[in-house]
Amino acid sequence: MSPRTLPRCSARWAGLVLLLLTTELCVGYRENARTCPPRCTCAGELLDCSRMKKGQTPETIPEWTVQLDLSHNKLQVLRAALFSNLPHLKEIKLNNNDLERIPDFGACALNITTLVLANNRISRIWPDQLQPLLALETLDLSSNNMVDIRADSFPLLPLRNLILNSNRISALEPGCFVNLSSTLQVLRLNRNRLSTIPAKIFQLPNLQHLELSRNRIRKVEGLTFQGLHALRSLKMQRNAINRLMDGALWGLSNMEVLHLDYNNLTEVSKGWLYGLDHLQHLHLAHNAIVRIRPHAWEFCQNLRQLDLASTHLARLEEASFSGLSLLDQLHLGNNRISFIADGAFRGLSHLQTLDLQNNEISWTIEDMNGPFSALDRLRKL
Ligand SMILES: *[C@@H]1O[C@H](CO)[C@@H](O)[C@H](O)[C@H]1NC(C)=O
Ligand SMILES: *[C@@H]1O[C@H](CO)[C@@H](O)[C@H](O)[C@H]1NC(C)=O
Ligand SMILES: *[C@@H]1O[C@H](CO)[C@@H](O)[C@H](O)[C@H]1NC(C)=O
Repeated sequence: MSPRTLPRCSARWAGLVLLLLTTELCVGYRENARTCPPRCTCAGELLDCSRMKKGQTPETIPEWTVQLDLSHNKLQVLRAALFSNLPHLKEIKLNNNDLERIPDFGACALNITTLVLANNRISRIWPDQLQPLLALETLDLSSNNMVDIRADSFPLLPLRNLILNSNRISALEPGCFVNLSSTLQVLRLNRNRLSTIPAKIFQLPNLQHLELSRNRIRKVEGLTFQGLHALRSLKMQRNAINRLMDGALWGLSNMEVLHLDYNNLTEVSKGWLYGLDHLQHLHLAHNAIVRIRPHAWEFCQNLRQLDLASTHLARLEEASFSGLSLLDQLHLGNNRISFIADGAFRGLSHLQTLDLQNNEISWTIEDMNGPFSALDRLRKL
C-alpha cells in the first residue's frame, strides 16, 4: 500500500473493523443464547466437538444440535445419557475413533438420518444395534474391521446410502441385503477382498450406483447382477477380472456408465455386453484386450464414449466398431495397433474425437485414407 492511498484505505479499514466488531457481537450474543460447550465450536446447526482431548466428549450436548461432530476423539465408548434430550439431532459424525460397536443413542436414535462411523474398529454389524435407527438413510462404515456381511445384518431400515469401503470383506452371505431392497440407492464396497460375487446377491431394484473397485474379483458369472433394474453406474476397476461370462451383465438394462479399467480382460464380445441397452460410457482402459469380436456392439448401440486405451490391441479389423453410430469419443491410445483395415471405422458417423496416440501406425495413415474416410464428423484426431 503506497502512503498516498493510505487515508482512504484507513477509512475503509475502520469501517471494516466496525463491521467485524458488530458481527462478532451478534454472533457472540446468538451463541451465548444457544450455549456452545467449552472446546467445541458452533456454527449454524452444527456442534463441532471433534479433536478434543483423548477419549473426551462434552459434558452435555445442547438441545439445539442438529449435526454433531465427535470425530477424531479416540472414543471407545459413548455414554447413552449424552443423547438423552436431543429432539433435533439428525446427523452424527463419529469417524476416526476406537469404537467397536454401533453406539447406543438412546431415544434420539429414532430421528438420526446420517451416521458416519468410518475409521473405527467395528468388526460386525449386529442387527439389534441398528434396529433403533428407524430413520437412518446414510450409514458409513468404511475403514473398519469387517470380514463379511452376514445374512441377518440389516433390519428393515430406510437406508439409501451404504458405504463399506476399505474393510476386509471377503464374503457376502446370500440374502444379506434383502431388507434394504426397497430403499438402497448407493452401495460402495471398494477396497475389500471380494474374489467372487454370489449370483443374485444384489436384489436391489432401487440401487443406482454400485461400486466394487479394488477387490479381487477374477471371474463374473452370468446373471450376477440380475435384480438391479435401476442401476445407472457400476464400478469394477482394479480387480483382476479376466473372464466375464456370457450374460454377466444381463439385467443392467438401464446402466449408463460401466468402469472396468485396470483388469485383465482379453476380449470384447457381445456375450458379456448382452442386455446393456442404455450404456453410454464404457471404460476398458488398462486391460489385456487383444481382440474385438465381430458384432461385439450389437447390444449396446447407445454408446457415446468408448475407452480402449492402454490395452493390447494390435489390429483393427473391418467393422470393428459397427453399430456404434452414436459414439462421439473413441480412445485407442497406447496400444500396439499396426494394422487398420479399410472399413475399421465404418459406421462411426457421429465420432468427433479419435485418439490413436502412441501406436505403431505411422506408415498406415499415408498408405490408406480408407479407414478415416467414413468419419464425417471427426473434429479431433
Ligand atoms: C424426533 O423429531 C421430532 C420432530 O422433529 C420431535 O418432535 C421429536 O421429539 C424427536 N424425537 C426424539 C426422541 O428426539
Ligand atoms: C429383516 O428385518 C426383519 C425385521 O427388522 C428381521 O426380523 C429379519 O431377520 C431381517 N431379515 C434378514 C434376512 O436380515
Ligand atoms: C493377468 O493374466 C495374466 C495371464 O493370464 C497373468 O499372468 C497376470 O498375473 C494377470 N494379471 C493380473 C493383474 O491379474
